[in-house]
Amino acid sequence: HDQYAVIGNPIGHTKSPLIHGMFAEATGQDIVYTAIEGRPGQFAEDAAAFRAAGGRGMNVTAPFKLDAFAFATERSPRASLAGAVNALKFDGERVLAENFDGVGLTRDVVENQGCAMRGKRVLILGAGGATRGALLPFLEQQPSELVIANRTVDKAVALATELRSHGPVRGCGYHDLDGQRFDLVFNATSASLRGELPPVPATVFTADGLAYELAYGKGLTPFLRMAQQTGVKRLADGVGMLVEQAAEAFDWWRGVRPETSAVIAKLTVPLR
Ligand code: ATR
Repeated sequence: HDQYAVIGNPIGHTKSPLIHGMFAEATGQDIVYTAIEGRPGQFAEDAAAFRAAGGRGMNVTAPFKLDAFAFATERSPRASLAGAVNALKFDGERVLAENFDGVGLTRDVVENQGCAMRGKRVLILGAGGATRGALLPFLEQQPSELVIANRTVDKAVALATELRSHGPVRGCGYHDLDGQRFDLVFNATSASLRGELPPVPATVFTADGLAYELAYGKGLTPFLRMAQQTGVKRLADGVGMLVEQAAEAFDWWRGVRPETSAVIAKLTVPLR
């Protein structure tokens, strides 16, 4: 069987082997998918060792997404634009690199949550790697406006400037959101990982809109709680994004697109 792995540090809580195991079983693909705890500063050695042992591809998670970008010999346009890589494919000496986080997120929102973005006002909080990955796939959905808000305003403005030729995107600070409302609001900051709330005004939400927390498995985060208190009925965390990016990688490696709904259902933890 062909070998795949996810590499990260820490890696103990990863759901990727479970997800890819379910995909393999459902599609009849003969693969083995394991988890590797990468050594900080030695990504290239660890990835090369896996390839030398017969590995065909890897998923890459924190803190190695930039190392994987450097390790690659060929990068897709979306990996290049995100400046980060979450999937590698080994083909002889070639190391092909992709970033499926943004497409996975977009697919989850549009198809699973049934929230079309076309013509909608979309807000994304944070200007780090998670936001970088999401911007191009979001703009491809043709929102009427895409606003990036960040604590460090310059980072949001710089990102928006970089993406300007792809659609109506602008960067700003949290204070600039006063008096503005959005149909879809995404939290792509790392605040939730520490139980913190980005300083977003509660007035940005729309009751029949969507509030989406990119982090997964944190329950009702301060961001989701705030959205719920303002009356937003549709709340989501990153479980669908996680499974959809995995499906993209599986398809890229194996040429078979797995069904995601049963896997998402299995991993979903009620938000409370
Ligand atoms: P990731 O790759 O997960 O996006 P990152 O690149 O370190 O992580 O970016 C983290 C993002 O979360 C940044 O936008 C950061 O804001 P700054 O650029 O101003 O630092 C944001 N962030 C982290 N903690 C936050 C908090 N408590 N409130 C608001 N924003 C926060």
